Amino acid sequence: MNYDTIKEEIKDIDITLPPPQEEPERQYYFIKKLQHWMELKKEEKGRELTCCVNTFGCQMNARDSEKIIGILMTIGYKVVEDEDADLVIFNTCTVRENANLKVYGRLGQLKKIKNKNPEMITMLCGCMMQEESVVEKIKKSYRNVDIIFGTHNIFKFAELLSMKVLDRAESKKMIIDVWKDTTEIVEELPVERKYHFKSGVNIMFGCNNFCSYCIVPYVRGRERSREPEDIIAEIECLVKDGVVEVMLLGQNVNSYGKNLENPISFTELLRRVEKIEGLKRIRFMTSHPKDLSDELIEVMAKSKKICKQMHLPLQSGSSRLLKIMNRHYDKEQYLTLVDKLRAAIPDIGISTDIIVGFPNETEEQFQDTLSLYEECEYDLAYTFIYSPREGTPAAKMQDNVPFEQKQDRLERLNEVVKEKALKQNQRFLNQIVDVLVDGPSKRDETMMTGYTAHQKLINFKGRKEDIGKIVPVKVTEVKTWALKGEQVD
Ligand code: SAH
Ligand code: SF4
Ligand code: F3S
Repeated sequence: MNYDTIKEEIKDIDITLPPPQEEPERQYYFIKKLQHWMELKKEEKGRELTCCVNTFGCQMNARDSEKIIGILMTIGYKVVEDEDADLVIFNTCTVRENANLKVYGRLGQLKKIKNKNPEMITMLCGCMMQEESVVEKIKKSYRNVDIIFGTHNIFKFAELLSMKVLDRAESKKMIIDVWKDTTEIVEELPVERKYHFKSGVNIMFGCNNFCSYCIVPYVRGRERSREPEDIIAEIECLVKDGVVEVMLLGQNVNSYGKNLENPISFTELLRRVEKIEGLKRIRFMTSHPKDLSDELIEVMAKSKKICKQMHLPLQSGSSRLLKIMNRHYDKEQYLTLVDKLRAAIPDIGISTDIIVGFPNETEEQFQDTLSLYEECEYDLAYTFIYSPREGTPAAKMQDNVPFEQKQDRLERLNEVVKEKALKQNQRFLNQIVDVLVDGPSKRDETMMTGYTAHQKLINFKGRKEDIGKIVPVKVTEVKTWALKGEQVD
């Protein structure tokens, strides 16, 4: 179903009856109730009501926010960037301590805004809310938050908001609805995309890997795959709606489909997605090295649509640390994978994630990471200082590495990352590359910006009429984090 069909379905709902039990019809019911409420509010205030959704964290959260915005817009809210809105939502991340601190900082500011505008509704959701200690802290120190929900019940957004604005008994309380886990996947709710021509598509939720440092399996629950038919139907709808590029999203896409009643592999899913007419580019993330199959490499090599680019998190170049991290591969196995990828797809671009300063990481182990980084010829890396997360096995480990040393390692690693990024970008100099045009560059309105198939950011002299199209661009200059070019005919 596309957005318009969903809107039609909502129109047909009878709100004089009690709410239906089944989903998503139950949510359509609450959306319709809120649409009525919104009309009255608009009249009362003599203006539109605004909402602001602030997203932290990864692509999973970004996609979740698009779902929340879809529901908000269907209700009748106007989306704004400013936190001085009638409804403000923080979709939070907790993967590292910094992510947490950022949210608390913003919450402090929000408190001040809300003191001036007591009618404002504030909501918190996302991964941080899955932690009991966080919810306790908010209950104590941020009492004017209205609604807290988690990662498993975003689909219930309209119902929760109805409780707040339509149910007198609930309206004075802080509404908290956080589920520990779920097996439910609710399809067919409105989604509002950030770009009309490209979109993320969830193919699975949760994670079963329990890397020893990582909190994601605790806050996103067990791995659940969507039915392939639902995924294909969603992409077909998106393509009809103008989308030419999709990013298939999952914490470990290579284990897609294993837990379905009729199991199917990720490569089989890719084959089916590839057949969708009108779709031009397919990306996916994240690939866990332990599950990356030869079959996937073969499918990528043959495909005309799958971009020749892979995000393959390494985490550490030390086999000893990889074992303690519970990653299920060692340095040699990782290198073999990279060799296989490069043999099958010579111009592939590989990016990665690396953690430095894991508990008791020795200088020698860090050197292993540096030398593996050199050897793999990466395009790009996201690098992090290890951050202990409550409830994970690594958080209980003694740690003898001083923070300054961790910072120093991060800086040394980032130097190599920078050097390699520039070196890898140089292979595109004077080449003509295909670019999906995002829009005018923020820094310079006369330039357009977009991404190449290799996921390289490029700023170029182009045309506004080509936004959303894939156009040929000649690379005229190469920088560390971006390319520069001119559109050619
Ligand atoms: N599912 C993806 C990654 C999700 S989290 C994968 O397996 O690759 C994104 C990245 O955050 C991870 O790859 C890791 O490098 C980093 N990360 C996760 N937990 C961390 C922690 N406790 N401290 C520092 N970095 C962490
Ligand atoms: Fe975290 Fe590991 Fe799962 Fe990635 S695979 S989300 S790093 S537990
Ligand atoms: Fe953060 Fe949750 Fe993503 S913890 S990185 S938003 S899965």
